[in-house]
Amino acid sequence: MRERGQVIRTKNATRYLLVLLLTMLLFQSYGQDNAGRIKWWQDARFGMFIHWGVYSTEGRGEWIMYQEHIPYPEYRNLAGNFQPKTYDPAKWVALAKEAGMKYVVLTTRHHDGYCLFDSKVSDFTTVKVGPGRDLVAEFATACHKAGMKMGFYYSLTDWHFPGILPQGYPRSPEIMNPMVQQAHDQVKELLSNYGKVDILWFDGMTPGDTTTWRSGELIRMARKLQPDILINDRAGTSGDFVTPENVVAANNKPWESCYAMNRTWGYAPNDLNYKPVAELIRLLTSCASQGGNFLLNVSPDANGEIPKQQAESLQEIGKWMKVHGVTVYQAGPSPIVVANLGFQCRVGDKVYLLIQRWPGSVLPFAWCGSVVKSARILTTGQPLQIEQKEDRVWLRGLPVNPPDPYMNVVELSFDGAPKASSPAYK
Ligand code: GLC
Repeated sequence: MRERGQVIRTKNATRYLLVLLLTMLLFQSYGQDNAGRIKWWQDARFGMFIHWGVYSTEGRGEWIMYQEHIPYPEYRNLAGNFQPKTYDPAKWVALAKEAGMKYVVLTTRHHDGYCLFDSKVSDFTTVKVGPGRDLVAEFATACHKAGMKMGFYYSLTDWHFPGILPQGYPRSPEIMNPMVQQAHDQVKELLSNYGKVDILWFDGMTPGDTTTWRSGELIRMARKLQPDILINDRAGTSGDFVTPENVVAANNKPWESCYAMNRTWGYAPNDLNYKPVAELIRLLTSCASQGGNFLLNVSPDANGEIPKQQAESLQEIGKWMKVHGVTVYQAGPSPIVVANLGFQCRVGDKVYLLIQRWPGSVLPFAWCGSVVKSARILTTGQPLQIEQKEDRVWLRGLPVNPPDPYMNVVELSFDGAPKASSPAYK
């Protein structure tokens, strides 16, 4: 009996160990253990998204192949017009830097399947059709040279793949499996041939179909090739971070809101629905103050030139960031909330009030559980007088009109860490 009991106990222990091991493996492949790897990205808060490809020759966005039902042979001809004579990714990276962005994510392949890189497993690449160059290689060199963190967007779906269009879902395994294999092969190419890749930004997976896509295997391969890589949530696994699109949506997981500057990701010179700079800064600070990232898109033309309006907006953001960037990098939620003025964030032991409704010469706020030691307008450096009665505070001496045209900031310093006077907000 005792022996049998021992055997059972040993079996149970082995089973328990196996389950533990499998759980650990699963967590590893799905990126839950990412606290160390993701720190730089969470500190960064602000990145550049770049949508660029064959579609940039037409100027009606990146979905034309599908939306306008363009057959592959006709679409392939358009790639002949994709001759980016003045393409200089160092200029993109320099502009991103100037704007205060800390990483850049390029569409290495969008849904149309056109690879901006030298893929050995596709006939539709920038080396074989169009420019005759590996544009991703040039991009990678520019990023590495400038010390800019580099991300690859990669669409898993490939509309040019035989049988994929015009059929809807579900597609047969005979059609899907070769396309999935191609995606696995291309991700391997992307993560093997271009040095360090910091972010893999998947898109375009058939929803919920992790089995067909062999998502777990794909992610494991990616992490093996690039152990520090951060992977988003669009390959069927939860990934390292989630990616709300054109909306600010805070999440318990690391998150990044991606936004177009106008209403189109790909080049669309006639879409003049541009968000004003103040709105872009509002979105950036809204993300950062809630502990999220902001990935702002640019849409270069077929030559590789970022449209003037987009470049100018980024330069304006850059000017603001030079003075106020301290409120964005490493920012997170503040325990003291001054919602009637705008947002607030906490960086270290400082609280920044991001003011959208300028109060005039006196700025009252409350629910402050710490003694305010000093306060100043970050925009001008001007110190403010402080009056505090318990948890109520009055800052005095502000100019009647706001000094910054986009977003004004007041910096608050305390004795130690800031606290709220009541648990109204965590
Ligand atoms: C969507 C669109 C795509 C764009 C992407 C950006 O999935 O299909 O065109 O690249 O979102 O988040």
